[in-house]
Amino acid sequence: MAQTTLLYNIGQLLTMDQHEGLVRGESMGSLDVKEDYAVLIKDGKIEAVAPTDQLQDIEVDEKIDCEGKLVTPGLVEPHTHLVFGGSREHEMALKQQGVPYLEILKQGGGILSTVRATRKATEEELYEKAMFHLNRMASYGITTVEAKSGYGMDRETELKQLRVAKKAGENHPLDLVSTFLGAHAITEEYKDKPDALLDEMASLFDQIKEENLAEFVDIFTETGVFTIEQSRRYLQKAKDHGFDVKIHADEIDPLGGTQLAVELGATTGDHLAVATDEGIEQLAKSDTIGVLLPGTIFYLGKGEFARARDMIEAGAAIAISTDFNPGSSVTENIQLIMSLAALKMKMTPEEIWHAVTINAAHAINRGDQAGQIKVGRKADVVIWDAPNYLYIPYHYGVNHVNTVFKAGQKLYQ
Ligand code: NIG
Ligand code: FE
Repeated sequence: MAQTTLLYNIGQLLTMDQHEGLVRGESMGSLDVKEDYAVLIKDGKIEAVAPTDQLQDIEVDEKIDCEGKLVTPGLVEPHTHLVFGGSREHEMALKQQGVPYLEILKQGGGILSTVRATRKATEEELYEKAMFHLNRMASYGITTVEAKSGYGMDRETELKQLRVAKKAGENHPLDLVSTFLGAHAITEEYKDKPDALLDEMASLFDQIKEENLAEFVDIFTETGVFTIEQSRRYLQKAKDHGFDVKIHADEIDPLGGTQLAVELGATTGDHLAVATDEGIEQLAKSDTIGVLLPGTIFYLGKGEFARARDMIEAGAAIAISTDFNPGSSVTENIQLIMSLAALKMKMTPEEIWHAVTINAAHAINRGDQAGQIKVGRKADVVIWDAPNYLYIPYHYGVNHVNTVFKAGQKLYQ
């Protein structure tokens, strides 16, 4: 027997499907808002989308009166460091004393502190922790999530993290897309030979492909981490092995990671907080998506947020994300990031909704599956305790979710 659910009396419905494909430049600012609509879900998929008066009388297993609330696609989170051991709350005091993020890393803290904890953790511990964070992400309206490795930087621990992500993706209702970030920092063992670390990580590419452990390869291109030349070589190798690539680019120092992402045809360039005029110009002309992470800039205490306005006005496609991780952005709350995008990057609410749905889905190669409410698609849908789409970035810091459906299943209420 088919299981049918009707959501009716929707005040504002965002289906996010008025534009074809990736939404770029000024198109991000135009949003089709359907009023007094209904959505019919059948066997976990969207069966119909129509005005309430056309659907409200049909026979279904469950009818949900949305009471004029906002309904949108489930949110897509395209950049997280989901699987890690330990936590770094003790570094907060260092931050308060003004010790910069890269200095903490240089002293063996930061990412390297999480590497030690992740190496020590068992697969079961990492799995339980990842599931906990996935549940919390779901509670904020996220239905598809990307997860990076990068806290092992040795063969064994990187594979352990990737296997944990794979198992979490198989067992948790959320859809998970995995990224190999073996090139995330330079460990003590490789202090004077970063190229050897990159070779070691690249030697995992075949096995990662064979075991289907990741779709993307990512690198941290930054002062004191990997140079542009090292990143180019490493990511080119990843592409030769059939991976799509991403770059942590121009986060703290403007090394030109944005241009490198474009040059390599990367799916995304992430952070881009200090991208130069040239970087922005090239990004705008390319198919590389800028994934902006204002939570990280806020959390690192930096004044310079990514120039989202310049990027969008130049014609770039932008997504936003929490960058959830234990050091530079410790939150699963994508709604808070939507507020920061509005307040700190001056993105409009219309742009922000594109950035957390369809564009975020394209940022992890799921543009044909997630980020839209469309007949035939998985029913990933959120009912919000909000009267309209402007309300979510406006009322900040709290959770506005009323109900989350993942493939038609009620996950959170
Ligand atoms: O995206 N910048 C590098 N990686 C993460 C931070 C990871 C960490 O501090 O544990 C980021 O900000
Ligand atoms: Fe990151």
